[in-house]
Amino acid sequence: MSTKITLAKKALTDQPSKYTRIVVTEDKNSWHRLVETSDGHTEYRMGAGKSDELTPRQFRTLARSIVQAAKSHQLEQIALQLDDAAYPKLQSLGSTWFYRTLAENLTLASYEFTHYKTKKDDSKSLKEIVVCGALDKEVEAAFKTGLIVGEAANTTRDIANQSASDMTPTALGLAAKQAIAGTKATIKVLNETELKKLKMNLLLAVGGGTKIETKLIVIEYYGAGKGTTKNLAKPLILIGKGITYDTGGLNVKPSGSMHDMHLDMSGGAAIIGAMSAIAKLGLKKNVIGIIPAAENAVSSEAMRAGDIVTAMNGKTVEILHTDAEGRLVLADALTYSERFNPGTILDVATLTGAALSALGQQASAFMTKDETLETKLRALGEESGDLLWPLPLWDEYQSTIKSHRADISNIATNFSRFGGTIEGGAFLHNFAPKNVPWAHIDMAPRMDSIPSDKLAKGATGEPVRLLVRFAEQY
Ligand code: BES
Ligand code: MN
Ligand code: ZN
Repeated sequence: MSTKITLAKKALTDQPSKYTRIVVTEDKNSWHRLVETSDGHTEYRMGAGKSDELTPRQFRTLARSIVQAAKSHQLEQIALQLDDAAYPKLQSLGSTWFYRTLAENLTLASYEFTHYKTKKDDSKSLKEIVVCGALDKEVEAAFKTGLIVGEAANTTRDIANQSASDMTPTALGLAAKQAIAGTKATIKVLNETELKKLKMNLLLAVGGGTKIETKLIVIEYYGAGKGTTKNLAKPLILIGKGITYDTGGLNVKPSGSMHDMHLDMSGGAAIIGAMSAIAKLGLKKNVIGIIPAAENAVSSEAMRAGDIVTAMNGKTVEILHTDAEGRLVLADALTYSERFNPGTILDVATLTGAALSALGQQASAFMTKDETLETKLRALGEESGDLLWPLPLWDEYQSTIKSHRADISNIATNFSRFGGTIEGGAFLHNFAPKNVPWAHIDMAPRMDSIPSDKLAKGATGEPVRLLVRFAEQY
């Protein structure tokens, strides 16, 4: 059961006693007390440190901590009131940022993955959160936007967290259809026969090791109108890696590295979540979501290390390593995106373990040659909480993937693992449409949540908040 989150005009002190009042104090972070007040209310007091020192990042954590505390004390209904004027370091962001961020993070922290639990005892679960003291229409709208974005990110998590035996490429297509149901967005799911006609051979090669069907999921949303001046209508393209399970292929993964590879479609799931939020918000923008979906399996039909495959754009690719499959499916998706006359392209993928070596698990890596896009993405990362950090995409990095037998190879021909994340970006650069601003986001570091996130274990729902903001400002 999901938590009902609402905004109320009434002050916290006017709420009925069934709500436990959350009172944020200036005590240190770990401090907390559950008390009965003299007027018969339950009050949960929690320290959040000095309010003049609270940063935007700490504010997001505070919102999540409130939910986490309510859950651990089995509080079923809570009410809270936070005054944005009390936090000087949040002032420049404005009250719409404050309320939207609050709604997003309360929603994200409320999420639990219960799909496979047989005992769904929710008698003591957190059922309701009331945020008090909202005064104007702008704040109400921002809060509502935050709820839509937060719920979309939770949809992304629900899709990603399901096992690969259930969340196949076909099921992913159905999940996408369900996520955009009732909106102006449309969806088509291309099958293997159609992919063959399109010559999407890299995508087909990756999915070739299993009977489980390979698909290309395409979600189209024309909020700015389709047939107007060509330049005006140039869409934003969002591409997401949809590997529903990554065994590594014949270059099979070691056992300790395989069990969470059902999450290898997290990029694709994020595109589904973002498209659903964009459509539900009715943004006046044209946005296309493209998800190449396949399972990277082991079998006698699987692609071999050393196979050479002709990509959709005509380039020949030497597949030196079958576990570098994400870049293969994305390459064909990038070529496919050309038919939409793209304005900007963002791709999102759990592409390399090397991104975790570079950044730890706190931020996604990204690469782009477009300086405006670089600045924008970093700023939106900070604004949304889906943190991103740049790596270079210099031409020098192309030399290691120049193939001896074909045009290009999917890993360094000397099998060096150095700079693995950049190598992935450098490979993709050969397939990105020319003269279109493009950024590659390697979200492998953010595939799985960590304790400091204060979120349920599993998929994080990143970078849905960032993608929606990017579309809003596109
Ligand atoms: N899906 C993996 C990357 C990954 C690893 C994501 C760990 C999240 C956590 C990707 O397909 C992969 O296997 N990459 C290889 C690339 C290598 C063979 C060049 C890797 O990172 O080892
Ligand atoms: Mn792989
Ligand atoms: Zn993978």
